[in-house]
Amino acid sequence: MAKFVGERNGVDVKHESLLKVTEPHDSLAVNGHSSKMAASQPALKGKEPVKELTNGIKTTSNSEDSKDPFCDPDNPTVIRFQDIGAAAYNIRGGVEITPCSRSHMSALTGMEIYFKKDFMQYTGSFKERGARYVLKMLTPEQREHGVIAASAGNHALALAYHGNSLKILVTVVMPLIAPMMKIQLCKQYGANVIVKGKDLSESKAIAMRMAKEKGLMYVNGYDHPHILAGQGTMGLEIMDQVPDADAVVVPVGGAGLIAGIAVAVKSINSSVKVYGVESERCASFSAALKVGKPVFTAAQPTLADGLAVPVVGVNAFATAAPLVDKTLVVNEEFIALAILRLIEMEKAVVEGAGAIGLAAVLANLAPELKGKKVVIPLCGGNIDTSILGRCLERGLVADGRLCRFLVTISDRPGGIADLTKRLAGIGVSIKELAQDRAWLKADVFSVQVKCVCETRDEEHCKELATLLNENYSSVYFGSVMF
Ligand SMILES: Cc1ncc(COP(=O)(O)O)c(C=O)c1O
Repeated sequence: MAKFVGERNGVDVKHESLLKVTEPHDSLAVNGHSSKMAASQPALKGKEPVKELTNGIKTTSNSEDSKDPFCDPDNPTVIRFQDIGAAAYNIRGGVEITPCSRSHMSALTGMEIYFKKDFMQYTGSFKERGARYVLKMLTPEQREHGVIAASAGNHALALAYHGNSLKILVTVVMPLIAPMMKIQLCKQYGANVIVKGKDLSESKAIAMRMAKEKGLMYVNGYDHPHILAGQGTMGLEIMDQVPDADAVVVPVGGAGLIAGIAVAVKSINSSVKVYGVESERCASFSAALKVGKPVFTAAQPTLADGLAVPVVGVNAFATAAPLVDKTLVVNEEFIALAILRLIEMEKAVVEGAGAIGLAAVLANLAPELKGKKVVIPLCGGNIDTSILGRCLERGLVADGRLCRFLVTISDRPGGIADLTKRLAGIGVSIKELAQDRAWLKADVFSVQVKCVCETRDEEHCKELATLLNENYSSVYFGSVMF
C-alpha cells in the first residue's frame, strides 16, 4: 500500500535559514560568478565548503573504472542557486520553457493543481535541461572527444538530441531491455548507440570502462553537478509561472531533478514545500534518508521505470536531503490511475515516472496540501504504446470501472440469459464471458461463469456485487484467483 515515509526526513536543516531571493531571474549568475547570488544561498549542510562546479577533466586519485570523478561519495558536490542561474542562461533558446497551467483536476483533488508540462520537451522529457547544460559546459578538448552515458531512455534521448544539435559526438550504452523505439530514436539523432548489458548497472559499467579507454567524459544522468543545475532550471520556471505556489511535488529516481528543483525553489522562497515522490518498488531516496547516505535498494519492475534507480546520486543526495520536506511512496495502482486521469482529464500522455506526483495526490498521501496551490511536474511522456494500454486497463480497475467476478449459475436453458439480463438491468456492460464446467464441484446442472465487466465507478461496482450476492450462492468478486 501507498504510505507516507517521513516529514523533514529527519535531516537536521532549518529552511528558515535560507535567505529569500528578491532579484528577478534575469540577474542570475552566469558560470557561477555572481557574488550577489552567493549571498542568497541555502545554508547547505553547513560543514564542507561548497565546491565550485568545474568542467575540467578532473581525475581523482581513484583509478578504478567504476569511479566517476564527478560523483565522489567522500566529497559530494552540493549545487548552489547561482549554478542553476548559470544553467538557465546557458540553455536558453535550446530547451523549451514549458507551460505550467492550472489543471482540470483541481476540483477532484481539492487542491489548486498546476501541471508543469515538461513532457512537451522535444524528446519528451525534462532530461534535456541537464543534458544540454552538460554539453554546453564541455571544454574544447572534451567537445572534441565526445561524451558517453548509460541510459535506458530519457537521458539517452536528451543527450543524443542535444549532442546532435551542438555537434558533439554522444555515445550511449543502452541495456538489452531498452525499448526498441528509444534505441532507434537515439540512432536517428546521430548518437553512437551500443546495446549491451542485461540491465542498467551492467550498461553503466561498460560505459565507464569505455570512458576510461577512449578518454570520453561519462555523464551520469542524475548526479553530474551540471545535470543537477540544468534540472534546477525547471524550478526557476515554476517560481516564475506560479510565484505564489505553496508546494512542489517532484518525482524522485536518482534524485537529480529534486535536487535542482529544491535549490531553485527554496532559494527563491524558503516557505514553499518540496515533496519527493518515489515508487514503492524502488524507494531508494527514502532508504538513503534513513541511513543518511545513498544505499543500495533492490529495484523491482515498476510502471515508473524511469525512477528505478537502486542508489541515488551522491551529489543529488547531498544537495536534496537537507531541503526536501517530505517523501512519499506510491504503489503501482495509483501510478496507473494517474496515467489514466491525465489522459482523460488533461489530454496528456505522461509516463509512469512523470505521473507519480499526481499519483501521490490521488492516493491522498498529502492531505495537508488540500486547499493549497500545488505544482506537479509532469516530467516525461515517453511511454511504450503496449505499456500504455496495460496502464490504462489497470487504471480502469483501480478506478472501479473494470471489474471481474466468478459466479456459479444454473446450467439449464436460460441460466446465462438470466445472469446477463440482471447485469443489463443495472447498466453493467459485459466485456468478456467464459464458462467452465469441468472443474466445478457443484451439481452437474451448474456452470461457473467468469465475467469481466465495465462499470461506471466503485459505487456501481458495489451495486453489481450486491446484485450477484443476492441472486447467486457462489460469488467471487474482484482480484481473487480465478
Ligand atoms: C520522466 C521522469 N521523471 C522523473 C525522473 C526522475 O529524475 P531523477 O532521476 O533525476 O530523480 C526521471 C528519471 O529518469 C524520468 O525519466
